[in-house]
Amino acid sequence: MPEHQVVETFREDGYTQFEKRSDRGTFLPYDSLWYTEPARMFMAFNPENKPIGVIGFAPLGKFAMGAGIHTRRPEGRGVGLMPILVEKLLQEKGNAKLFINFASRKAADYYRSVGFNDVDLENLPEDLPEQMKRELIQASQHPKLVEQLQKTMMYNVPQWVDTLKKGMSE
Ligand SMILES: CC(C)(COP(=O)(O)OP(=O)(O)OC[C@H]1O[C@@H](n2cnc3c(N)ncnc32)[C@H](O)[C@@H]1OP(=O)(O)O)[C@@H](O)C(=O)NCCC(=O)NCCS
Repeated sequence: MPEHQVVETFREDGYTQFEKRSDRGTFLPYDSLWYTEPARMFMAFNPENKPIGVIGFAPLGKFAMGAGIHTRRPEGRGVGLMPILVEKLLQEKGNAKLFINFASRKAADYYRSVGFNDVDLENLPEDLPEQMKRELIQASQHPKLVEQLQKTMMYNVPQWVDTLKKGMSE
């Protein structure tokens, strides 16, 4: 769903602590690619149908930009939702190279544990749009940046795992 719908869904349920990228504007000017490219957002609901978390990314050709992760305080926070949301993110992004700027140490450490690596600013992909290159470098210099990580392949697509297993046993 688009980002504004996430904000509305939370608001309708009385929760106002989730902000759009353009309202958060953590590392870059509000009109940067990171905040203006349309994002695909995925919300999690608890069994009472209460919205309790969200994750998303903005696709850009074969690349993608993290659009944030947020768990709802108090009921969605600290209950192990982050791994579920990240799993969804990885499924949805497919093989796009995803870049994320992190403001949270906890989030960055977790993403690292599922295969995200440092962004090598000296060797960014040649076909990465120039504006994205510039903005990755700009974000890297921001004092609030905790980490800047990237991930290309996802290794846990069930169909692939099955195909690999089949291939190996034949
Ligand atoms: C960042 C945020 C999404 C984390 O969510 P959370 O609800 O606090 O965390 P969760 O309980 O879902 O995740 C904890 C689980 O992640 C995993 N995990 C956490 N840190 C980990 C690490 N360093 N290594 C490996 N796994 C880790 C564990 O499975 C852990 O479960 P456990 O505590 O039962 O062992 C949440 O704090 C938030 O919404 N913050 C405000 C917005 C924000 O800062 N977003 C990130 C911007 S970069």
